[in-house]
Amino acid sequence: MAADVTGTLHADRPGPVIAPELYGQFMEQLGTGIDGGIWVGPDSDIPNTRGYRNDVLEALKELKVPVLRWPGGCYADIYDWRTGIGPRESRPVTLNRWWGNKEEHNAFGTHEFFEFAELVGAKTFLNVNVGTGTPREAMQWVEYITSPTNSTLAQERRRNGRDEPWKIDFLGIGNEPNGCGGRMRAEWFADQFRQYVGFIVPHGGATIIASGPDATDPEWTRTTMELAIEHMDAFSMHYYTLPTGDWENKGPATGFDESQWLATFERTYMIEPMIQEQVAIMDEFDPEGEKALIIGEWGTWYDPTPGSPGGWLQQQNSIRDALVAAVNFGIFHRNARRLRAAGIAQMVNVLQAMLLTDGPKMVRTPTFHAFRMYRPFQGATSLPLELESPAYGGLRAVDGTAARGTDGKLYVGLVNLDPREGKEVTISLRGVEASGVVGEVLTADAIDAHNTFDAPDTVRPRPFEGARLVDGTLSATLPAKSVVVLALE
Ligand code: AHR
Repeated sequence: MAADVTGTLHADRPGPVIAPELYGQFMEQLGTGIDGGIWVGPDSDIPNTRGYRNDVLEALKELKVPVLRWPGGCYADIYDWRTGIGPRESRPVTLNRWWGNKEEHNAFGTHEFFEFAELVGAKTFLNVNVGTGTPREAMQWVEYITSPTNSTLAQERRRNGRDEPWKIDFLGIGNEPNGCGGRMRAEWFADQFRQYVGFIVPHGGATIIASGPDATDPEWTRTTMELAIEHMDAFSMHYYTLPTGDWENKGPATGFDESQWLATFERTYMIEPMIQEQVAIMDEFDPEGEKALIIGEWGTWYDPTPGSPGGWLQQQNSIRDALVAAVNFGIFHRNARRLRAAGIAQMVNVLQAMLLTDGPKMVRTPTFHAFRMYRPFQGATSLPLELESPAYGGLRAVDGTAARGTDGKLYVGLVNLDPREGKEVTISLRGVEASGVVGEVLTADAIDAHNTFDAPDTVRPRPFEGARLVDGTLSATLPAKSVVVLALE
């Protein structure tokens, strides 16, 4: 049978390392993203470790989560860190102005975040408040967290139960400052950024991140570079996939037709020229590529689950989301030279989640499985994979990515966007010494197939029997609407 898709994998032309942090997770104080989804408290009947759900911890360990971002998002710019320290029973109740005006009891605060990150084995990405905060508050919060001294703030941390300082790996200054973060103009934000950075001194260092707006605004990026590049280590952009592109009517998470399936991928791919636009501007100011680009938030954003509380951003997650994730991973790998961290929004119960919970129940979503399958790409060395694919709508039906894993094996990730027809793929291998191939496939019958608490395994990876490695040529028969990850050994 003639191949539908042909290509060449150049293992002899290694590219940049795929930073593990490109597989990061974002967790905001929002709906049940943390309360109920991660944190149930030590007295809960739901099995937990010092208040953190055991089932969620166990699942996240399967993903090898490299970095966790908290407390927002928009919430970061209304968060007062002092409401989340000290005895839990005496923490104040605050209103979550951005997300449904929910009463926040602040049981999950600074200590809980850093302890949770330790339990998960992830680096930390803390976002400080610029919109309603002050440089003094941010300076004091960072001292409280990271100082090894006997300062009053460090001693307060010790009295609250933590002797050793924690490490802040990534420090975000502001969040979407053009919008929920303070409706700022780029010049004003750049000046504020400089001021904050001048006072905040994280002990042990941190990657200091200047915030960009949602999606892309080249003028914002240029202004931030002109006015503040010497004060930053990284610049952050956000991008969400809305099937319709219309914030008032985004499209449903399930029960959609093929035109919305296709539109979802068309809008997913729009992130790549945005990344390239940011990179081109950063290249002008930083030709050596020292400063990183970060995608602080990405993922699908649909109409909320009917009947769910307003502002909690609850949505179902289907095979479509798994393919969106895999397409994004490929884009991230292709741009790994400057793109060095990303955070999917959000980890549990919010937007394109890995896990959904309801009381004691928990289910892994198709997106979880995509993250799990692509785990070998964390820290791998990217390799050029050129594919000639037939079209699906205006897109290529099959996309792919390849890398040499830290274990020395060669990994190939393939996505078939065509929801009706399988594809025969043939790839010539250059510089590869391998004699066998194994893999996994994620696919489903319906375009909106998803997992529920009653049927948790409707969409789950299975061993892939459709790949062959003969005389330096890799062949694979991809099912319709599938993600396949192959390991060559
Ligand atoms: O992830 C939900 C929200 O989307 C975040 O709080 C904000 O940064 C973005 O607009």
